Formats: sequence, structure tokens, C-alpha cells
Amino acid sequence: MAATWGSPNRLWTDHYNSLQSTAMGFYQQASYRRLRARPTRALFLAVGTFFFLSVFILRSSSGSSENHVSKYPPYHTFHDSPEDAQIIPTPGHLFNLNDTLPNNLQKANPSFHLVIPARKKSRSLCRMLTSAMILNYPPPTLISYGRSLPEGSREYDALVDRITGIYNFLEYTPHVHDDDFVLIVDGQDFFFQLPPEVMIQRFQNLLRENNAKLLKKYGLYSRRGGEQEAQKYAHRVLFAASKECLPSLSSDAGCVTVPSSSLPPDAYGWKTDHHPQGHLNRPRWIKPGAAIGQVGDLKAIYAELLHFVDQHRNVRGDYLALTQMFGRQEYVRELERRKNSNFFKELFYSMIGISEASNTTGVAPHLESGRRYEYGIGVDYQSDVFFNMLNSKSDVEWLKYYNVSKTSSVQMEHGVPREHRLLLPTDLSAEQVGSPFAQPKFGKDEWVSPAFNKTLDGLPNAKNHTWNHIPLLTNVHTASIPALVHLDGDPALRDKWWSKMWYQPYARALLRKYVRSPTGFDAAQSAMLGGQEWWDLRGGKGGVWTDKGEWLGYAEVCIGYERDLFNDGFGSWGHEEGGDDEEPVYNQFGNLIKGKEN
Ligand SMILES: *[C@@H]1O[C@H](CO)[C@@H](O)[C@H](O)[C@H]1NC(C)=O
Ligand SMILES: *[C@@H]1O[C@H](CO)[C@@H](O)[C@H](O)[C@H]1NC(C)=O
Ligand SMILES: *[C@@H]1O[C@H](CO)[C@@H](O)[C@H](O)[C@H]1NC(C)=O
Ligand SMILES: *[C@@H]1O[C@H](CO)[C@@H](O)[C@H](O)[C@H]1NC(C)=O
Ligand SMILES: *[C@@H]1O[C@H](CO)[C@@H](O)[C@H](O)[C@H]1NC(C)=O
Repeated sequence: MAATWGSPNRLWTDHYNSLQSTAMGFYQQASYRRLRARPTRALFLAVGTFFFLSVFILRSSSGSSENHVSKYPPYHTFHDSPEDAQIIPTPGHLFNLNDTLPNNLQKANPSFHLVIPARKKSRSLCRMLTSAMILNYPPPTLISYGRSLPEGSREYDALVDRITGIYNFLEYTPHVHDDDFVLIVDGQDFFFQLPPEVMIQRFQNLLRENNAKLLKKYGLYSRRGGEQEAQKYAHRVLFAASKECLPSLSSDAGCVTVPSSSLPPDAYGWKTDHHPQGHLNRPRWIKPGAAIGQVGDLKAIYAELLHFVDQHRNVRGDYLALTQMFGRQEYVRELERRKNSNFFKELFYSMIGISEASNTTGVAPHLESGRRYEYGIGVDYQSDVFFNMLNSKSDVEWLKYYNVSKTSSVQMEHGVPREHRLLLPTDLSAEQVGSPFAQPKFGKDEWVSPAFNKTLDGLPNAKNHTWNHIPLLTNVHTASIPALVHLDGDPALRDKWWSKMWYQPYARALLRKYVRSPTGFDAAQSAMLGGQEWWDLRGGKGGVWTDKGEWLGYAEVCIGYERDLFNDGFGSWGHEEGGDDEEPVYNQFGNLIKGKEN
């Protein structure tokens, strides 16, 4: 499937490249014309001779220097590419009632885990959980839930506890494997906007695109004693991009050397990257909060973070460490690139403005030989997956894509250069994902819980309410609809933005729809097949796991926040119809463990 989402800017990049080659053409033609004058021709010949001599001299002199690939090995936990993993469940062979099941069933595809550090319940946590459930994300695992820190603990201790909790989950949970995928949402002010399939596909497409570029830029190296060739540097995990770098690190490689944004240099008008307030900067720097990747890769990163926060008692230790790690990764890549380039090529390319060099001015990180600096870290410049609100709150609109008069004018209203009509990305088209309002089908006599109620379960008609018809938070400057929104920065906007998300005012009905999991043969089959089409081996719906392996129902965490979540006047979750008797819950031996016996 072609990666056409967010296409305008991608196209722009291609366009830009072709412009550059055309520019080179002109350059050459212009030189030819000038050659007519004799003295000039002589000069050009002299310069040309010098040019070729330099190339030869420098070519032979470079390459003898140290080998950065072996000095700072770019090794990864394992070598298969995350972009090729079959994570999205494909409907495989369906068994019918008469079949006997094979007896060696195992979940063949990697699982997808959602990890959220949260010590206690809160309105923000419940908004995030509600949006994740409505979109059918795997049941999240809450890290450190219900744990209080010892008396006298400070903010720094909370940070260490959080990082430790995430690391331990990745490292020591038996059902979490290195090739599984994990989305870590470290912080509570997040809203999910798009389904998990779309998020994962975008992540994998982005890796594919970036890795093709990295292959072109850095090439291959041989490993296992020359037996195999592998791509020198690859993109494997994705973080959010921010419009500002951590201020205390302004002369670190993490602020200076990291790649420039993939957005066009005038994405925010002629003051792009120059406005003192920073809101016109193109997102370029790494921002902790959200990360997606394979467990093995993120585990290595979190081990580093943990090591760092243990040593530096800094309340923003994770931010500091991540910025430095990203910086050093890019610095080492740049050393390696320069080693394989030559002075004249560099000079010539920078003269005509197509230099590939990363900025290392005034940066001299302390590097230790043999240490790993390569973590496959990349950031999401276009906010296809992660959008960070910091300095970006006026970059968004909630757009209904079928409204052509709106989508064709909105970029102009925001002063986007070369504006054009925004189109619904193909990964949200009706062929790719169904309407989020479609109700699952149930048999006539099938028992469903909670039972259908016209008032509570009313949803718009799924036929004329596809992704094309619902208001989607759109980053107007990059033309992308992010999968996950981080409300980083302005707490005053949280209520307003929540009320504008597409699931309002149907959040309660959508959540009831999610909880009303199919029972009967389908569910049984699914379980027998090892949950192949579940995200997570453990299955489960309508609740969360804790890192201690407990299952908590949605109500246990979020009851009491209904006004903040639904604002519909139907009262307590699970007691909408006025009944106050709790559903009885039995354990596997049939003993009542909760609620009243009927
Ligand atoms: C299962 O077997 C019965 C009896 O042989 C048959 O009538 C029925 O159609 C079969 N069901 C399916 C789904 O194949
Ligand atoms: C490189 O970084 C330095 C220090 O941050 C900055 O002053 C300089 O303008 C940068 N150079 C380029 C070409 O961006
Ligand atoms: C489309 O958007 C315009 C401008 O915001 C609005 O005035 C109009 O009512 C919208 N049309 C529909 C059909 O929603
Ligand atoms: C959607 O379809 C339903 C039933 O077909 C109709 O009653 C309703 O007016 C339609 N809504 C819109 C916005 O077209
Ligand atoms: C449906 O829910 C409404 C609102 O809570 C309630 O008043 C009504 O009695 C319910 N209807 C049925 C049939 O349970």
C-alpha cells in the first residue's frame, strides 16, 4: 500500500530534490556560456584542474582514519526490521464448528502492548483510557498503579520509579517478548484519535521511508566477519518531535547535530525557524512522552535512561538523557559519513546547497570506544503518529474532510505556503477502516451486556458517518491527522480539546459498544486459536492490567469521572439505568467474589 498520507509535504520534498538537480543543470549550462570569453575559459580550466586534483588527493588521503562502525558498533538486539514484522492481525484460516483444532496453537505474530505509567487514577488518565478503549487499543498495562512512594519522596524519586517501572515491565514480564511491539505513553495528557492498525501501519511506513534514505546516505557495513552486509544505520523506534530543544542543552549534539526537520523551510511562513517565541520552529528535537517500537529496542533505550537518571539526580533526567542519546547517535553517524566523504565533495555540495552534513559546530561529546551510541532513534516530524501541543496549539483544526469548501481554504487561513485542498489520507478511507460507529452484529437470542438501550446506545448511522464525516484533529501545516495527541503545555485547553474530539458526544455509547464484547462461538474460537487476532495474548476487554498482573475493570479506575468523560447527564458508568446493585462476579470455582448474589 502506498504511503500517501500526509502526502503534500512528502511530494514537496521530492519536488525540492528535483529542483535541486535542475538547479545544478542550470549551473552547468551557465558555466558553459561563460566559457566563450577566452580569459574566463583559462581560469575555468585552471579551477577545473585544481578541482580534479583535489578530488584525487583527498580521496586517497581519506579512508585511512579510524573506523567508527567498529569503534562505536551500531549493533541491535536483533537484526530483523521492525517495519517488516507482521503485527497487524490478518484474518487467517477460520475454523468451523465441526473442525478439530490443531493441538500446538501459539500466537504466531508479535503482540502489541500499551504501557502507561500511572500511580493513581485521575481525570486525564481516564480520558486517555476511554479514548484508547473506544478505538480498540490493547488493554493497557498501568505501571506502578496504586503504589505510593515512601514518605518524603520528591519529584526526582517519582521519575526514577516511573523509568524503573517501564524498564522492568519490558525486561521481566514473561509474556512480553523482544520482537513484540510496544507503545509507551509516559504521561497522562494524551488523547487517542485513530485506531491502532492505522498507527502501526504509519509507524512501519515511516520506518520504510526513512530507512531507504539512511541506506542511501550511509550505506552498508559487513558484520559477522564479513559474512553479511547490513545497513549501517537504521531507524527502529519513534518518538515525538518538539519545536524546542531542552534549553539547558543548547550546545549539545542533541540540540545542534540532530537532523533538520523534513518539513519545507517555509512551512510556517517566512519567519519559519526564526520567531523568538518558537511557535514557528519546525519540529525537530526529541520529546519524551510517547514512544513506539519493538520491545528489544526500547528496552535498550530505557536501560540507558535508567542508568542516567540513577547517576544524575535531575527531575528532567529522562528528557536530558534522551536528548543526549539522540545527539550522540547522530554525531557518530556524522563522523562515519565524513570519513567516507571527501573535503571537496563536502565543499562543493555545501556551495550549491545540497550538503548532507549534520551541524557539529561547537559540539564535542565525550565518546568512549566500544560503547553503543546507535539506538535507531527517530522522531515524527510530520506528526503522523504523535502530535505534541507544545508551541503548536494554533497549528490544528478539527476538520470534516467531506466539507470541501472548508478543507480547500483552511491552509490559506493558516498562512501555509503552496496551499492545496486537504484530502482524507488513504489509510482512513472506507476500504481501509470501517466507520467507528458501526455496531457489531449479534445473534437474535444472544445475551449481551450491557443490554441495548436506545437512549444510551444511540450512535449516528455508520453509512454516512465514516472517517470522512467526523471532525478530525488535523495539523494544518503538515496536513497530517495524528494518531495520538499529547496535550503538552496548556492545561486550560484540555477540556476544550476533549469536547472537540470525534467521539463526542458519543463517548459513552462507544465505550458501551466496546465493552459489549462478542460472546459465543466467535469469542471461544478466538480464545482457542490463541488470540491470534487479539493484540495481546491475554485478551481482556473493558479494563486494564497492572504491572503486578491484576485486572481492574474500567469502573474501578474511572468511576466518578463521568462528567469529565461524557458530560451527558446519564450518571455513573454501569449504573445508567438507575440500578445500584452491583453485578455479581464469580471466580473460576463459582464462588462469589464481588457484588450481591441474585
Ligand atoms: C457440521 O456437521 C453437521 C453434521 O455432519 C452438518 O449438518 C453441518 O452442516 C456441519 N456444519 C458446518 C458448519 O460445516
Ligand atoms: C550550527 O550550530 C551552531 C551552534 O548551534 C549555530 O550557531 C550555526 O548557525 C549552525 N549552523 C548551521 C549551518 O545551521
Ligand atoms: C463546511 O464548512 C463551512 C466553513 O467552515 C461551513 O460554513 C459549512 O456549514 C460547512 N458545510 C457543511 C456541509 O458542513
Ligand atoms: C444519514 O442516513 C440516515 C438514514 O439513512 C438519515 O436519516 C440521515 O439524515 C443521514 N444523515 C446525513 C448527515 O446525511
Ligand atoms: C435506557 O436508559 C435510560 C437513561 O438512563 C433510562 O431512563 C431508561 O429506563 C432505559 N431504558 C430501558 C428500556 O432500560
